[in-house]
Amino acid sequence: MLDDIASLKEEVTNYSIANKDELESFRLEFLSRNGKVQDMFSRMSEIPNEKKAEVGRAMNEVKNLAQQTFDEAKARLEREEAADLDATDDITLPAAPYSLGSYHPLTQTMEEMKNIFYRLGFSIADGPEIEDDFHNFTALNFPPNHPARDEQDTFFVEKNENDQDLVMRTHTSPVQIRLMQEQEPPIRSIMPGRVYRNEAVSPKSYFLFHQVEALYIDTDVSIAELKETLISFAKLMFGSDVKYRLRPGYFPFTEPSLEMDVWWETNNPNDDGKWLEILGSGMVDPNVLKAVNIDPEEYTGFAWGMGVERIAMLRHQIDDIRIFYNNDVRFLEQFH
Ligand code: DAH
Repeated sequence: MLDDIASLKEEVTNYSIANKDELESFRLEFLSRNGKVQDMFSRMSEIPNEKKAEVGRAMNEVKNLAQQTFDEAKARLEREEAADLDATDDITLPAAPYSLGSYHPLTQTMEEMKNIFYRLGFSIADGPEIEDDFHNFTALNFPPNHPARDEQDTFFVEKNENDQDLVMRTHTSPVQIRLMQEQEPPIRSIMPGRVYRNEAVSPKSYFLFHQVEALYIDTDVSIAELKETLISFAKLMFGSDVKYRLRPGYFPFTEPSLEMDVWWETNNPNDDGKWLEILGSGMVDPNVLKAVNIDPEEYTGFAWGMGVERIAMLRHQIDDIRIFYNNDVRFLEQFH
């Protein structure tokens, strides 16, 4: 057997590979499933046990040699081919265009939002996209079986080991609860992330979108500070001449609640433009603070949840949310 191995080794060593056809013949003869190397290994059962180690070593050596011979010849042939210029090759032609990727417009908008809030003194936190009922609803003061739960068009996943519903989070607000459970006030953080709603897909809504949540908890936080922060954000994001309005709103987890709209100015002379809601916000409801054992007599706070798609649509004059999710390069290329 050792003699056979030695002669196979010699065959491999003496094989000449001068072109791609010969490379392929070499592969078929030695390295393929029916090749000589595999064939040699299949004779291992004939070898008496005490010889197996020695013979195995010799076999492996030949196998490695064959593989190495193949790899080297392949690399050499490729090098030769690349260098094989002839008179018809114009080496002064510009190189083929190399298209560079870039960040998705939603990522760009999200990064800009993060930068603004970083400058305003907020840190950044995140939480899971699959949430339990407690964090997504109950701790946020959604009463059990209240229609407000339906308004969120929830995707239910399954129940956890405590028979609690697990859901695709319908908003980033549950991260507020997680932060307050983990951290003592003062808290001043934003929480960017994906959220999911079981909604019919249309130019205005998609079953997946992004929010940037914020939470500020300290002693004596006032609604004046909330308004000032939102207005500063709108000016930094859209420019100091941004047209905005704040109106009263309703959320179970804030009291009072506000919504902010930004004016959408179209380029179309026949269209007057319209108000687009970009966020919900308010003073954190005392019941929410109680759910995480923070004393509402000592601490107050504000919160908001901003829609990243809405903000990107306003910035770039995009009127159909679905285009963010098509992966159409003709759209994406415009955001280099
Ligand atoms: N979670 C709300 C939504 O998705 C938005 C929101 C409103 C977040 C008020 C807040 C808030 O933190 O205070 O519609």
